[in-house]
Amino acid sequence: MDISLNFPEANDLRVADPTVHQGIVIQGVSKSFGPKKVLQQCDLLVNKGETLVVIGRSGEGKSVLLKHIVRLLEPDEGKIWIEGTEITELSTRKLMKLRRKFGFLFQGAALFDSMTICKNIGLALEEHTDWSPEKIRARACECLALVGLKQVEDKLPSALSGGMKKRAGLARAIVMKPEYILYDEPTTGLDPITGDSINDLIIKGKQELGVTSVVVTHDLPSAFKIADRIAMLNGGKIVFTGTVEEVQNTDHPMVRQFIEGNSRGPLETF
Ligand SMILES: Nc1ncnc2c1ncn2[C@@H]1O[C@H](COP(=O)(O)OP(=O)(O)OP(=O)(O)O)[C@@H](O)[C@H]1O
Ligand SMILES: [Mg+2]
Repeated sequence: MDISLNFPEANDLRVADPTVHQGIVIQGVSKSFGPKKVLQQCDLLVNKGETLVVIGRSGEGKSVLLKHIVRLLEPDEGKIWIEGTEITELSTRKLMKLRRKFGFLFQGAALFDSMTICKNIGLALEEHTDWSPEKIRARACECLALVGLKQVEDKLPSALSGGMKKRAGLARAIVMKPEYILYDEPTTGLDPITGDSINDLIIKGKQELGVTSVVVTHDLPSAFKIADRIAMLNGGKIVFTGTVEEVQNTDHPMVRQFIEGNSRGPLETF
């Protein structure tokens, strides 16, 4: 059954011209690892200034999709435009310049084990600015404070709890004041109160700085709080996109099953 035929809103790309769209346009992206097909003709559009949340079952390819946006992974086929520029064939120099617009919170925080938290967070500033070490340290501490971490700057990542590492990863993602932030499960592993302060930080970034965010999450209360739109990834494609209200009220069987956390339905269980 091709459910998408009944839900044309999943294919919102048809209304956008990627060469002039001021945001992110992913068109027909496919990606396999060996025989495993992960993304299959995946389309997704992220408007400038919005917070788009991607939901979907574990292993469906959400992290893989996010990595394509900054070309940490290359598509087997398909194209990706950022503000009208097609990125899959950009030179390394132009790609590096474009990447500076982005902050990325990786699912596993991805901090360098042998560097202090301060060094981890300040790395991009060291590379891309002529700031003094004192100024870099001050900015790193400011970002740590924003995510509720104090007096950890001289510690190694191994001295931090999982939730603290996640927040340090978030501090690193925002250190360059990016226009776009890609969050891979920003609240996973955090207590509900800390998780909600991360929600507030995402909302504040949008409202005060106009940040465009793509957030991958399994945390539905968080998704419902922060999202302008929610997109569901299944079978290598976006099968549904809609506002929070549309997601909550849709009859789309996959979305219903997912948000109700029901083991019975069109989404297969093991
Ligand atoms: N670098 C890689 N090499 C080989 N296979 C990979 C690689 N990265 C991802 N995969 C595979 O691609 C599929 C999708 O992985 P991905 O990490 O995107 O899932 P996900 O939707 O983010 O899941 P989760 O919710 O558990 O984080 C998985 O089967 C995974 O094993
Ligand atoms: Mg993932």
